[in-house]
Amino acid sequence: MKRVLSGIQPTADSFHLGNYLGAIRQWVDLQNSHDAFFAIVDLHSLTVETDPKLMQERTLKSFAQLLAFGLDPNKCTLFLQSHIHQHNQLAWIMECLAGFGEASRMVQFKDKSLKAGDARTNVGLFTYPLLQAADIMLYQADLVPVGEDQRQHIELTRNLGQRFNSRYGETFVIPEPLILKSGAKINDLQEPKAKMSKSASSPSGLIDILDQPEINAKKIKSTVTDTGREVTFDEINKPGISNLLTIYTSLTAKSISDAEAEFDGKGYGDFKSAVATVVADYFSPIRVKTNELIANPGELCEIIEFGAKKAEQVAEQTLRKVYKQLGLLPRSLDEI
Ligand code: AMP
Ligand code: TRP
Repeated sequence: MKRVLSGIQPTADSFHLGNYLGAIRQWVDLQNSHDAFFAIVDLHSLTVETDPKLMQERTLKSFAQLLAFGLDPNKCTLFLQSHIHQHNQLAWIMECLAGFGEASRMVQFKDKSLKAGDARTNVGLFTYPLLQAADIMLYQADLVPVGEDQRQHIELTRNLGQRFNSRYGETFVIPEPLILKSGAKINDLQEPKAKMSKSASSPSGLIDILDQPEINAKKIKSTVTDTGREVTFDEINKPGISNLLTIYTSLTAKSISDAEAEFDGKGYGDFKSAVATVVADYFSPIRVKTNELIANPGELCEIIEFGAKKAEQVAEQTLRKVYKQLGLLPRSLDEI
């Protein structure tokens, strides 16, 4: 079985529809066909200033949601990045391997540092992709399921892995990106040419999965109104309706043409109501399950610890090999 690894930050009270349809739903499928490792990458979220109480709450909520979505700790290894200290240890090795210019070319760093300004850009934001490279190579992942925006980070990871292997001998599996299907890209309800995003979208453009169904129904019904009356998929002229069609068909497994036929002659209002109902029906049980899990933090922590134990074994094995290849002297001569 090929090994996959991916990560998501615990930076919101709820995952949004884009996170689910663009990433997490694929993770749930991958756990059945792959040796899968999924991490809540809490260390990565320290690149922006965080509130400790919120950090803890959001980490637990993120785990609860992933479990409610269907990730099964017996089918995959689900763990918290900061529980495995080997991530930071390997990240240092990656930092020493990466060129300054190479890291400076990362588009995400350029965008985020430009937005934050010099005074609020920390060094962690710069080394973020190197911690990500460590996340991936520590587990010798063959495949990394991510959105298109992460392609450059995976390319950097590959370059660093190849560089290490050629300098110090075969050590790392060189991972391939598994870029998730473009069909699952979900846009902002109010600005349907921009991606739905917890940092960029206004609250009315974003569907938070843990929100009450009435709140989400209201947002869906207030989706920006395109010109015309027909429910047809046309991203250029009808970006709002097209986005809703993507959501509708993704959650019902209907084809776009079936959905178009279903709403033939019915107009936008009926269609928006139908999308609202589908979203409510799909996510209500997930919301209930998430709340049940959060209500029992003891059990949740046991699941998280179970994942840490599984992840740690693999991580330690890789790190030992890396230290050995680098010639770092072991504590005991028996290990030489
Ligand atoms: P982020 O919240 O941007 O850190 O993204 C977490 C994961 O969700 C990544 O794998 C993204 O590619 C995916 N994702 C985020 N926003 C969207 C979106 N609007 N449509 C599809 N996938 C998304
Ligand atoms: N940088 C990724 C994102 O923003 C999150 C991430 C951290 C990740 N470590 C990873 C993704 C390792 C895949 C593999 O979405």
